[in-house]
Amino acid sequence: MNILILGSGGREHALAWKLSQSIKVSRIFTGPGNAGTSYLGTNLQLDPEDFNAVKKAVLENNIKMVIVGPEAPLVAGIHDFFLSDNALKNVPVIGPDKSAARLEGSKDFAKAFLTKHEIPTAPYKSFDRSTIKEVPDFLKSFASPYVIKADGLAAGKGVLIFENLDDAEKEVTAMLDGKFGKAGHKVVIEQFLKGIELSVFIVTDGNSYKLLPEAKDYKRVGVGDTGLNTGGMGAVSPVPFANRGFIEKVKQRIIDPTIKGLSEEGINYKGFIFFGLMNVSGDPYVIEYNARLGDPESEVTIPRIKSDLFELMEGVAEGNLSERILEIDERYVTTVMVTSGGYPGHYEKGKEISGLERTKDCVVFHSGTKMSDDKVVTAGGRVLAVSAWGRTMSEALHGSYGNAGLLSFDNMYYRTDIGFDLQEKC
Ligand code: AMP
Ligand code: GLY
Repeated sequence: MNILILGSGGREHALAWKLSQSIKVSRIFTGPGNAGTSYLGTNLQLDPEDFNAVKKAVLENNIKMVIVGPEAPLVAGIHDFFLSDNALKNVPVIGPDKSAARLEGSKDFAKAFLTKHEIPTAPYKSFDRSTIKEVPDFLKSFASPYVIKADGLAAGKGVLIFENLDDAEKEVTAMLDGKFGKAGHKVVIEQFLKGIELSVFIVTDGNSYKLLPEAKDYKRVGVGDTGLNTGGMGAVSPVPFANRGFIEKVKQRIIDPTIKGLSEEGINYKGFIFFGLMNVSGDPYVIEYNARLGDPESEVTIPRIKSDLFELMEGVAEGNLSERILEIDERYVTTVMVTSGGYPGHYEKGKEISGLERTKDCVVFHSGTKMSDDKVVTAGGRVLAVSAWGRTMSEALHGSYGNAGLLSFDNMYYRTDIGFDLQEKC
């Protein structure tokens, strides 16, 4: 079967890498993909949010399944577009429809869903221009810090945390005044949760689900979790504190009621759900839902899947996921994100990357690269994710860092302490 993966980052390269190992997959297309995905199949120069371009690519290349990497096409309704088109309606889309993708596309929807289905999350209230006068009193009902979230998609920049009440109030006003355009026309204010974060993933066909490996990512740019937030500077899986007892709580208190809640609301969710969780003294709370896999989490979770990932994709498409097998590798996988110096601020692109052929006992997933003549050059802030396996976290990190050190391009940067907060016990 020919498949199309939509997106262009490390997550999509990891999906293409894993799916290329399936005997059931004939050709892999990635739209638009990157230099890494071009080695595994064919890159198609298309914008995943241009549904007519996706349609043309699907029909021209006899594609029989579409797997959606990023959230934007899902929230914009790519699944619904396929279902309502006669030529596409039999091509399954792995990723939720527009209504189901509101779990990520609207923080207000997600919080109302969590509250209604009694799933642990921080207390909150939503505001719009008509209720702006109530904001100061609500903020005063919490102790600082104050968590302010734009309702809609804001390219990962829509969550701000303030120590000071005046700053929090000003931010709410700025958001409601259009700082994030339509995404901020509604604002969620919620209580700050103190704990340690982790990412939990499932894939579901709407009835049953499979639990994928969990991961922890490192969002800050600087060593010791300092500096600006990024898309993620590295990740590890498994997460030592997510032991059997903790994961059991996650299943009972969070995943099961989410699946039940979706079904009760008549929402048919087909695809991945990413639970952004906070472990507060051993109890899991939902910080956010995402309608997709994480990045760089995919670069550690996908390499831990031993069985055929396509089996799960087919199970989602056919609605028989419970009959499919998922085997997980017990070993650790770590990834170190190699970035362009200056990221997440200003950085330069087009730098030639050397050393890729020298790496070994690891897999280098491309995040922001492209081919220029026959050379691989940088094309983004996050450039390469170096993933390695190990019996211990230290062993895996040794593989990631040993290989990251073999790579080079102008102004290359990576964090040198991925896993620093988890490593003692493993
Ligand atoms: P979100 O986009 O909702 O995941 O928020 C981005 C980041 O803000 C999260 O990964 C957390 O680090 C932080 N965050 C969001 N909500 C809270 C909260 N209620 N308490 C503490 N930190 C939070
Ligand atoms: N690494 C976090 C995300 O994919 O949203």
